[in-house]
Amino acid sequence: MEAFTLAVAKGRTANQTIHLMKKIGIIFNNFTSSSRKLVFYNSDKTIRLLFVKAVDVPTYVERGAADVGIVGKDNVLESEADVYDILDLRIGQCTFAIAGKPGENLNKEKPITIATKYPTITHNYFSKKGKAIHIVKLNGSVELAPLIGLADAIVDIVETGNTLKENGLVVLEEVEPISTRLIINKASFAIKSTSIQPFIEKLRLGLEE
Ligand code: PRP
Ligand code: MG
Repeated sequence: MEAFTLAVAKGRTANQTIHLMKKIGIIFNNFTSSSRKLVFYNSDKTIRLLFVKAVDVPTYVERGAADVGIVGKDNVLESEADVYDILDLRIGQCTFAIAGKPGENLNKEKPITIATKYPTITHNYFSKKGKAIHIVKLNGSVELAPLIGLADAIVDIVETGNTLKENGLVVLEEVEPISTRLIINKASFAIKSTSIQPFIEKLRLGLEE
């Protein structure tokens, strides 16, 4: 079988991804999430796993540095990468939401300011609604922004809701559901179909069990 390269997002969903692989019989022997190693191989060396920062997974796949990627839909949407989004792996389920202080009015006359790690998604969402906004791009801890007056609201993912709650914020508007996706490089999908198609099928069956 032709070998292919799989880019997996580091972070909170990595262990669940490796667990899902194990379930469908693909074992990355020396993988531990605490290891500093970034490249792993499965038992018969037909899959090379690259362990990369989540925001970079769509770039690896779009440019063909990886044939296949496993990453949150948030990062796929934000990158606007030209890849096939093939399968919902039902890991890391959460919601994209606009959040702020209780009672914050998102429909003010003048443009509101939104802090977010996701400027593209935020821009696309509000422009579809025909609403002008200002965006403050942050790289994390965005919940701070409404508290200290850096922004009126945030656009971010909400999983348990604990981060919002512990900072006195609430969901003002739900944007869309998010989960971990299987994405494929468009050329690889055709050229390496003999190895990638069975991999997709195995995952599909594994998810049904
Ligand atoms: C993510 C996200 C939210 C939080 C949601 O942040 O940006 O802040 O998790 O999870 P919860 O609803 O279960 O609290 P993360 O911990 O990845 O840190 P960062 O935003 O600083 O990168
Ligand atoms: Mg956060």
